Amino acid sequence: MTAHAIDATATRQFGDNRSMRPANTSAQTLTLTRPDDWHLHVRDGDALHTVVPHTAAQFGRAIIMPNLRPPVTNVMQALAYKARILAAVPEGMTFEPLMTLYLTDHLPPDEIARAQEAGVVAVKLYPAGATTNSDAGVTDVRKTYKTLEAMQRAGVPLLVHGEVTAPEVDLFDREAVFIDTQLIPLRRDFPELKIVFEHITTREAVQYVQQSDRYLAATLTAHHLLFNRNALFTGGLRAHYYCLPVLKRETHRQALLAAATSGSAQFFLGTDSAPHPVHLKEHASGCAGCYTAHAALELYAQAFDSVHALDKLETFASFNGADFYGLPRNTGILTLQRAPWTVPDCFAFGEATLKPLCAGETLSWRVVNRQSLWGITATSA
Ligand code: NCD
Ligand code: ZN
Repeated sequence: MTAHAIDATATRQFGDNRSMRPANTSAQTLTLTRPDDWHLHVRDGDALHTVVPHTAAQFGRAIIMPNLRPPVTNVMQALAYKARILAAVPEGMTFEPLMTLYLTDHLPPDEIARAQEAGVVAVKLYPAGATTNSDAGVTDVRKTYKTLEAMQRAGVPLLVHGEVTAPEVDLFDREAVFIDTQLIPLRRDFPELKIVFEHITTREAVQYVQQSDRYLAATLTAHHLLFNRNALFTGGLRAHYYCLPVLKRETHRQALLAAATSGSAQFFLGTDSAPHPVHLKEHASGCAGCYTAHAALELYAQAFDSVHALDKLETFASFNGADFYGLPRNTGILTLQRAPWTVPDCFAFGEATLKPLCAGETLSWRVVNRQSLWGITATSA
């Protein structure tokens, strides 16, 4: 059954008794316009067959990150990658990968027109060395100015991994320093370039976005809304909570949650689900990235529910991103039910194994109109 197969005329509702209770505090079901994931890693090859169905079961579209090895730096590569992703969408599911290009010091400005023509929707800036597969990233943003000019003219958004990489900057300060030394000058030089400040993790980033104009927006991950940096160290070193930008202290998590649930159009859903094989996570120098696509909406629902803001989830998950990108909102629906379930311990991942975030733990919300995946049978709402 597809998300669309559910009774499309069902009344949109927040719980069984909305009129009697304030702020959905005891809602039992939640029906949203089908959401989109505005920041996603699906990798390549056999791995696609595990992770693409997880995302397609919940989301109508997803912005696909280009940090493959080698990175996706031209339109031909992006279209070939899109075809491989579509081939991994199970029969009967509808899902649209929104492709991006990886910005290098040498991405030619005329590739932007070709990108636009081919439906490639954005360009991703990784400062060289900032994260997984970012070696080919930008060494000095001024080297990309001609390409950024072309993007500003064409209205193609720049997606930014907002962390500096200088070794003298403390790892926990990388995002705040990026705002001051990179983002502020960049926005001054390109005031009408649409920018998405990806996976923000700090109060400073929230405040900076809030005080900016409509050309700047930010994505927020479920894991940064749910966990602070203690999660990395509770009961031992916990590799599966390691991602970049790294989890921050509780005051920052609170600021992110307030932003996500504020209703502001500048904040929207981007899971940054970033799968790595378990043997490379549980390793002396473990890879950065949390896998969350298996339970994306469930994790966001848990975060929003924790501050009694489920009524704000649809705007964040299904409207704000599409509006910022200038794309139509989805027409299908997705229904969550308050029904405890246990996250599977692992998934096959090509020849390897993938351990999801919250493996073996109980989550309170569950998407009920997903397609049958790993033994959870679809039920209708
Ligand atoms: C991402 C990955 O593994 O590709 N890792 C992560 O920790 N988020 C890259 C990224 O988005 O930084
Ligand atoms: Zn990412």
